[in-house]
Amino acid sequence: MCGIVGYIGTQQACPILIEGLKKLEYRGYDSAGVALLNGGNIEIVKSVGRLHDLEKKLNGYSPWGSIGIGHTRWATHGRPSDVNSHPHKACSSDFAVVHNGIIENYLQLKGWLASEGHIFCSETDTEVLAHLVENFYQGDLLEAVRKAISKVEGSYAMAVMTDQEEDKIVCVRKESPLVIGLGKGEQFIASDIPAILNHTRKTYIMDDHEIAVVENEDVSIFNGTGKKINKSVFNVNWDQQAAEKDGFDHFMLKEIYEQPPAIKETLKGRLDIENYRIQLNDITLEAEYLKNLSKINIVACGTAYHAGLVGKHVIEKLTRIPVEVELASEYRYRDPIVDPERNLVMVVSQSGETADTLAAMKLSKSMGAKVLAVTNVVGSSVSREADSVIYTWAGPEIAVASTKAYITQLVAMYLWGLYIAQLKESLSQKETKEIMDGLRCIPSQVQCILEQTSKIEDIARVVYQKDDLFFIGRGLDYAVAQEGSLKLKEISYIHAESYAAGELKHGTLALVTEDTPVLAVLTQKNIYEKTLSNIKEVKARDAYVIAVTLKSNKSIETEVDKVFYVPENLDILMPLLTVVPLQLLSYYAALMRGCDVDKPRNLAKSVTVE
Ligand code: G6P
Repeated sequence: MCGIVGYIGTQQACPILIEGLKKLEYRGYDSAGVALLNGGNIEIVKSVGRLHDLEKKLNGYSPWGSIGIGHTRWATHGRPSDVNSHPHKACSSDFAVVHNGIIENYLQLKGWLASEGHIFCSETDTEVLAHLVENFYQGDLLEAVRKAISKVEGSYAMAVMTDQEEDKIVCVRKESPLVIGLGKGEQFIASDIPAILNHTRKTYIMDDHEIAVVENEDVSIFNGTGKKINKSVFNVNWDQQAAEKDGFDHFMLKEIYEQPPAIKETLKGRLDIENYRIQLNDITLEAEYLKNLSKINIVACGTAYHAGLVGKHVIEKLTRIPVEVELASEYRYRDPIVDPERNLVMVVSQSGETADTLAAMKLSKSMGAKVLAVTNVVGSSVSREADSVIYTWAGPEIAVASTKAYITQLVAMYLWGLYIAQLKESLSQKETKEIMDGLRCIPSQVQCILEQTSKIEDIARVVYQKDDLFFIGRGLDYAVAQEGSLKLKEISYIHAESYAAGELKHGTLALVTEDTPVLAVLTQKNIYEKTLSNIKEVKARDAYVIAVTLKSNKSIETEVDKVFYVPENLDILMPLLTVVPLQLLSYYAALMRGCDVDKPRNLAKSVTVE
C-alpha cells in the first residue's frame, strides 16, 4: 500500500521520481506527490487522483533538483485530497517526508507536538513524522530520524529529506518494504523493486529497524542499535520487461496469459520424472519432523487464502495430515493453538509483505512454531523470516487482482503435498506418477482454455449487466468458486457470493431469481450428481445457470443455459484448470462495465497495513 520513491544523484530527479511512481501505481492510486530539494528550498507538488493528475498539474514543468522523494497514496487516515497527499512537510517547510504504513499513536503524538507549538494541516498520521523530525533536529538528520522513530508505534517505510543537509536522504523501515537501488554516483529508493529496475539491479533490501543514509556516492546502513552494518547486495534477476504490459491492454490479461509458463517455471527442477520423486532442495525442515506432523495451519489473506483452501483438500488427501486454513487477520488475534513439535504453519503470500500475514507469521514463531512460506518475491519479508520457503516462480504480478500468483500457489500446494506424502510414504509410486504426469499436462491445458476466450466473452455478455451472481460448487470445486467470486467482485463490482452447493437450500436459495445467474463448477466425479441436483434446484427458481465442467459431462447441456468445458485431468488437479475461465469471465465482465481492471476502486496490490 502506498508507493515510495526517492532519488539522489546528478540528474534531474523529478522525471525519475515520476517514472518510478508509474511503476508503483498498483500499490495505491488515490493521490500522488513529489518533493524536490534545490538550493536551500524544498518544492512540493501534489495532487489528488491518479498519477496523470499530478503530471497534468506539473504540466511539463519539472521542479528543479537532483534530490527528491515521491509518493503514490492509498488513503488510510484522511480522505484522498491534495492536502492529505504526501510528501508532508513540517511547520518550517525545511523537512519533507513520505511514508507507507500506519503510525498507531499519531493522535497522542499530534497532541503533544501541537502543545509544543506545531501546526498541522492534514488529517494524516504521516504528518506527525515530519513534525517529529523537525522537533528533534539539531543539525543531524540521521539523529533526528532516530529520535523521531523512537517515539513512534506502528509500521513505516519512510524517506526524509531536509534543506539543512542537501547531500542526503534518510530512510528507515519497520514492517513495510523498502529497497535502495545502487547506482554510480546516484542512488534510488523505492518501496518495491519495479520502480528502480530501469536504473539498476543492485539493491539493498532493508530489514526492520534499519536506517539508511543515502548519499550520491555512498549508502550507510545502521541497525536498530545504531551500529553501522555491512549489508549484502541483492541482485535482482528479472528484468523490466517482466513488469511491462507487453502489448496487452491490461496487466491482468497479460498475467492470465502468462500462466502456462509460470506453472512450468514453478514445476521446473522439482519433478524428478525418472524416479517419480519431488525435489524441494531448498526445504531445510527436517524429514523426521515433517513425517510426524499432526496438523498444518495455512494462514494467508485474499487470493492467497483461497489457494490455501485448495491446499487443504490437496494436502489432506495426499498426506492424511489435518490442515486448517485461516485468514491471517483472524488468526493473529485469536490465540491459536499451535504445537511447536508437531504442527507446521504455512504462510502463503504473493508479495511476501502483507501486514496481517507477516504478523501471523511472527505470532507463530513467537509460539515456537516452524514456518514454511509460499511466496513469489525473493527477498520479501516473509521469505526472509520463514524457516523454509517454496518460491512460486510467477514473475512480478502487477494487477491488483491476483491470477498467475494464485495458480502457482496452487502448484506449490501440490508440490508440498506430494513432498510430505513421499516422506510419509502415504502414496504409492503409481499414484505419485499419475499426479506428476497430470501436473505436467496442466500448462498446455491452460493454454487450450486461453484459446477459447470468445466463449467466455459470450458468458460475460450475460453476466456484466447483472447486480448479483452466485458461484456454487462442492469440495475442490467450491474452493475454486470462492476465488471466482472474489475475482468478479473485486474488478467488476458485481456483487458475487460463493456457496457450497449443498448449503444453498439453507438460506441462499431465497435470493435466487431469474435475475441472479448461478455459475456452477462441477469437475469432481464423486459429487457431480449432487451438484447437478443443486443446479436443478436453482433452475427451478428460474436462475440463468452457467456450468464450468468436463467435456465428458456433455449431458449437462440440457440442464443449464451455458457451458464452458475445461480439459480433463485428475480430479485433484482440476482447480488449476477451472480457475482460468473464472478469471477471464471477471476480466471481460469488468471490461464490459467500463471498470479500471488493473486498478479497482478502493483496493491496492500490496496490503502493508492491517
Ligand atoms: C491484496 C491483493 C490480493 C492478494 C492479497 C494478499 O488484497 O489485492 O490480490 O491476494 O492482498 O496478498 P499477498 O501478497 O499476501 O498474497
